[in-house]
Amino acid sequence: MSVTQPLAPRRYLDHAATSWPKPEIVFRAWEQAARTVGAAAGRGVYREAIQADAICESARSRVAGLLGGVDPSRVAFPAGATLALNMAIHGLLKPGDHVLAMASDHNATLRPLHWLSTRGIIETTIVPCDGVGRVDPDAVANAWRPSTKLIVCSHASNVTGVLQEAEALAAIAHQRGGLLLLDAAQTLGQISFMPRGLGESAFGADVVAAPSHKWLQGMAGAGIFWVRPGIDVELLVQGGTGTSSNSLEMPDSFLQRMQPGTPDVPALAGLSAAVDWLDSQTIEAIAAQGRTLAQGCASQLREIPGVRVIGPRDIAVPIVSFTVEGYDPSEIAALLEQLAGVQVRSGFHCAALVHDHIGTQSGGTVRVSFGPFNSADDADAVAEVIATLVSTTSR
Ligand SMILES: Cc1ncc(COP(=O)(O)O)c(C=O)c1O
Repeated sequence: MSVTQPLAPRRYLDHAATSWPKPEIVFRAWEQAARTVGAAAGRGVYREAIQADAICESARSRVAGLLGGVDPSRVAFPAGATLALNMAIHGLLKPGDHVLAMASDHNATLRPLHWLSTRGIIETTIVPCDGVGRVDPDAVANAWRPSTKLIVCSHASNVTGVLQEAEALAAIAHQRGGLLLLDAAQTLGQISFMPRGLGESAFGADVVAAPSHKWLQGMAGAGIFWVRPGIDVELLVQGGTGTSSNSLEMPDSFLQRMQPGTPDVPALAGLSAAVDWLDSQTIEAIAAQGRTLAQGCASQLREIPGVRVIGPRDIAVPIVSFTVEGYDPSEIAALLEQLAGVQVRSGFHCAALVHDHIGTQSGGTVRVSFGPFNSADDADAVAEVIATLVSTTSR
C-alpha cells in the first residue's frame, strides 16, 4: 500500500476517530508505566505488580469521578468501547427481549443488535432521526413495547455531532421498567457527566461505555464500562482473573467478571494522566474551544456554493460533517491533505443507518473534528481549500 506524503505540515482534524497529539503528561505516564512498571496487574505480590494494581485503582477512581461520582467498584476497563458495548448488549439481553436503538447510532451497537436480531434471539426497532441525526424522545416512547428491555443510544452522533437527550431517554426507560445503555464514545471528555440540579450522574443512564483514546485524550487499549449497582450483566468473555485460579468458575465480583485477562496498565496510567489533564484544563473550557473552532469552520463552509454542512447549528461536540457538490467525500479528504496537510475522515464513519436520514447515502460525508491542540488556523485551512476547489473547478 502506498502512503501519500502530505506536502504541507500535518494538520490533524480527526479527533472523533482518535485524539492526537495527546497531552504531554499522557505520553509520559504511558511510557513510564511501560518502561518501569512492566508487570501484570492483579497477579503478583512483587513491587512492580503492586504498582500496576495501584495504577488500575487510581484510573478507576478518576473515571468514577468523571462519570459523576459513581461507585468505582462498578467501573471496569475492558480493552475498548466496542468490547464494552458488546458486553453490555450480549450481557443484558435475553431471548425474546425487544430493544430500541437510534438510526444515528454507531455500528459498535448496531452490529451486535443486528447479529442478535437476525438470529431471532432479540427484536430491535430502529427509531428514525431527523436530517441532522437528532432523535425525538417521543418517538422512542411511542415505539416502546411490553417486551422492551433496553434503549441503546450513541449520546452524540459520530457523524453529525448531534447530542441526544440522554436524560429524557433514561426517564422513558425507567418509567417503563427498562434500562438505558449510553454509548458515550463521542461525549465523555466533552460533556460533563456530573449530576445537574436534582438529576442523576451519567444522565441517569444505567450502563455507560466509552473509549479512553478519543475525547478523554488517553491511549487506545482501555475501554470504560460502568454498570449501575444492582444491574446484572451476564458474561460475554470468560478467562483468567488472577484470583480463584484453581476454580473453573468465574469469581463473583463485578470487576473480576467484567475484566478477564491482563489489563493494559500503560493505557490506564495514560488514562489517569488524561483525566488529571482534563481536570486541570476543565472539560467546559476544552469543549468551548472545540465548539468555537467547529462553529467557525461550519459557518465558513456554509458560505461556499455547493457545500452542504450536515450537522446541527447548536454544535455540542466539535464535529462538522459536510459534502461538496460534484465531489466524492473521499476525494475531498485526499485533496485536503494534499493541498493543506489537513487530515480528516470521509465516508460512512461506521454508522450504517444515519446516512439514509441525513441524505448522504451516496458516499457519506467529509468529517472534520477538532481537538484541544487545534487552532482557528486549522479551521480556516479547511474552508480555504474547499473555497479554492469550488471556485477553480467546475463539475
Ligand atoms: C459513537 C461511537 N461509539 C463507539 C465507538 C467505538 O469506539 P472504539 O473503536 O474505540 O471501540 C466509536 C468509535 O468511533 C464511536 O464513534
